Amino acid sequence: MKHDIERVLLTEGQLQERVGQMGEEISRDYAGKNLLLVSVLKGSVVLMADLMRAISVRCKIDFLAVSSYGSSTRTSGNVKLLKDLDHPVDGMDILLVEDILDSGLTLHYIREMLDTRGAASIKICTLLDKPERRKADIHADYVGFTVPDAFVVGYGLDYAEHYRNLPYIGILKKEIYE
Ligand code: IMP
Ligand code: MG
Repeated sequence: MKHDIERVLLTEGQLQERVGQMGEEISRDYAGKNLLLVSVLKGSVVLMADLMRAISVRCKIDFLAVSSYGSSTRTSGNVKLLKDLDHPVDGMDILLVEDILDSGLTLHYIREMLDTRGAASIKICTLLDKPERRKADIHADYVGFTVPDAFVVGYGLDYAEHYRNLPYIGILKKEIYE
């Protein structure tokens, strides 16, 4: 697997440290609120598992899934809901947990959809942000790292469903997907 990686962008240590800081920040901001962490499957599961343990205030968790890229590295713009939340969200302070904010089309779709359901608030936490590639009018409230426009894998992020189990984030060699 590691032969397919051009170079390591973020080490395990850097990820742990930053996720810890994000957890502290979120804990401060959500004290006394009805925090509901919503993990967008599947890319955010690794972040979700680490982040929720770095959060010290009461919270609930839920999961939703939307259609992904398939094996391409660019979003189609056609987002489809594959798995909805298990519980109603009225009165909850939703924090969407995503692996990466790229074109922004996925999170834009999700936020619009949840907006109609009476949540008290909706904010976005993303491990990675690629602002250069933004198409939708959306920004994250909590950003782990701003990254350059390269295709990255690991720590939950995939290419064609592989590499999610790498403990670090690496830039995938172009020859793998071109
Ligand atoms: P967006 O709708 O273009 O913002 O795409 C968001 C989704 O695309 C993320 O949740 C990822 O699943 C996927 N994605 C975007 N960029 C990358 C990348 O560099 N590596 C792996 N997945 C990516
Ligand atoms: Mg993906």
